[in-house]
Amino acid sequence: MDKKPRVLVTRRIPEEGLNILEEICQVEVSDYDGVLPREIILEKVKGVDGILSLLTDRIDRDIMEAAGQNLRVISNYAVGYDNIDIEEATRRGIMVTNTPGVLTESTADLAWALLMAVARRVVEGDKFVREGKFRGWEPLLLLGNDVWGATLGIIGLGRIGQAMARRARGFDMRVIYFNRRRVKDKEKELGVVYCPLPELLAQSDFVSIHIPLTPETYHLIGEKELKIMKKESYLINTARGPIVDEKALVRALKEGWIRGAALDVFEQEPQIEPELLELTQVVLTPHLGSASYATRAKMAVMAARNLVLALQGETPPHLVNAEVAK
Ligand code: GLV
Ligand code: GLV
Repeated sequence: MDKKPRVLVTRRIPEEGLNILEEICQVEVSDYDGVLPREIILEKVKGVDGILSLLTDRIDRDIMEAAGQNLRVISNYAVGYDNIDIEEATRRGIMVTNTPGVLTESTADLAWALLMAVARRVVEGDKFVREGKFRGWEPLLLLGNDVWGATLGIIGLGRIGQAMARRARGFDMRVIYFNRRRVKDKEKELGVVYCPLPELLAQSDFVSIHIPLTPETYHLIGEKELKIMKKESYLINTARGPIVDEKALVRALKEGWIRGAALDVFEQEPQIEPELLELTQVVLTPHLGSASYATRAKMAVMAARNLVLALQGETPPHLVNAEVAK
């Protein structure tokens, strides 16, 4: 009997995925309670055929080297794959896969929750009540901005950006978007208008980011961009932290260039710019975009299927580096 391929899962994911892997693979699931430390991952990958990685694992040349010749696939349990050195994987003929689509609506839901929360000061209100400060209705208590009828600027009209645009319709918002390539065929269906980035920033009441992190999008939103935004506007980021220059954002909030921000992702996760923690006009969540029970289970199934197909010599449907399949 053929030996079963060996797979390392860097942290426990929902059972639905592990069950699929266990049918054909010899699976090691790390039971380390946290992001697997570098020295442990370097040790554990030795000789494996596949790695099921998380966005918190940096999978670089050294890890691929440590794994050795057998490594054929790295299946990332995320839609974003900026944690993996794709060029290096491609050079070595290693397939890299991700989990697009299944988390689109959950991530847009969270972005929407953040937008509503920061505009209507939900978190500040909650804290206020818990601290026993509520003395009854007040004419000027915790006023915020209307979401209904406002202008939403979407940066990145991919799947998640489009899901945001659909939500905005229910609130009668004007929706403008910026994307590397104009997405003409979606404009009519979604009721969105293309805008160059500076114009989008100048016109939006809410700016929401939905692009991947790449060398081109690193610090896409910095001092210059924040200064173009309206004084009463808000920035929402559920994509990747380093797309926003966090230090510039702190200045923007402290000096009132914009009114507030809601962030699910940070430049140096899990570290947070200390000054952000001091600011009340900011809502912070711990990278929860895809964190619904149903979506995390679907991601587990998708990541496991991608990995199994690759090990069976087929081209997985969510292959990131298509060159390798040739
Ligand atoms: C989450 O951030 C993901 O990329 O799946
Ligand atoms: C992710 O699913 C995206 O393309 O927006």
